Amino acid sequence: MSKNYKIGVIKGDGIGPEIVDEAIKVLDSVAAKFDFNIEYKEFLLGGAAIDEVGVPLPEETLNGVKKVDAVLFGAIGGPKWDNLPRELRPETGLLGLRKELETFANLRPAVVYDELVNASTLKPEVIKGVDIMVVRELTGGIYFGEPREYTPQRAYNTMVYTREEIKRIAKVAFDIAMKRDKRVTSVDKANVLEVSQLWREVVQEVSKDYPEVELNHMYVDNAAMQLIREPKQFDVIVTGNIFGDILSDAASMLSGSIGLLPSASIGSKVGIYEPIHGSAPDIAGQGIANPIATIASAAMMLKYGLNELEAAKAIENAIKAVLADGYRTKDISAYDAKEIVTTTEMGSIIANYVSKA
Ligand code: IPM
Ligand code: MG
Repeated sequence: MSKNYKIGVIKGDGIGPEIVDEAIKVLDSVAAKFDFNIEYKEFLLGGAAIDEVGVPLPEETLNGVKKVDAVLFGAIGGPKWDNLPRELRPETGLLGLRKELETFANLRPAVVYDELVNASTLKPEVIKGVDIMVVRELTGGIYFGEPREYTPQRAYNTMVYTREEIKRIAKVAFDIAMKRDKRVTSVDKANVLEVSQLWREVVQEVSKDYPEVELNHMYVDNAAMQLIREPKQFDVIVTGNIFGDILSDAASMLSGSIGLLPSASIGSKVGIYEPIHGSAPDIAGQGIANPIATIASAAMMLKYGLNELEAAKAIENAIKAVLADGYRTKDISAYDAKEIVTTTEMGSIIANYVSKA
């Protein structure tokens, strides 16, 4: 009998619904090919949830996502909800979801497709062959640290990490490195911050269990520079929540378009799979959004969440083939395009490549 999976779907705001629909199209085509079934259940989060029920993370969503095998996520937020108090902002909904599902490890690959080597603002020889995995701690650090307070005269947040939190994210990074080029760069600010001093000590300790993996440490300011200067020196980067937020956006630009890169947020429970880009309200509804980041996130869901490795590979291969054949959405249309396609056309073409491969 073929397997059945339950996928929670959070389309979100802006371009979210358009790009998630294309990922579902591709998932359906890969499921048919590899003989498994996917049942989708939609949940509200972010601006859409605020409009519908008045809060960014409804109880029904929180309970519902615990009963699925994985969550496919679009994007949230937009100017419409920017002036709400913090607890009602769309972002607060996403942070709450990550915390609730304890998705402490955020995997953000920055891969340069050969076909798009001219799409980056950096020189082709600097970025050709770049293949980095940023492993960002996602449920701790300054995003969640207490105490925190805002007053009009003085405001503060606290960057906290416990030994256990550092240990578990370091292990994820070393395990991933073992399946790659066996190099880990741990990024911190240990020359200034006590929290980074502990980070460095614990990463060093964990590395003893991985004698084959080469570990180096880098300060975050230097890491930002090195990412632009010589990105090929990196294999796996492991870092805390806010440093990872910043470095992963920087790393994404190596690939040329932020519309290409996926992410997986995993822990011991249900994982969340989402593009690293935002909801792009300025281009919503125009059919020009690039669905590839979300489709690649669906591939990460198959790989890390459902252990359907062949199906994941099939999607990755289809994305490469479609790019090699010159299909481009508007964001990457300036680079060796043979045909410029809409959001839905891109989804259909990738789905077709999957089924005919
Ligand atoms: C990201 C985003 C989020 C973050 C925001 C929307 C809360 O920038 O996923 O990188 O800072 O984690
Ligand atoms: Mg970010």
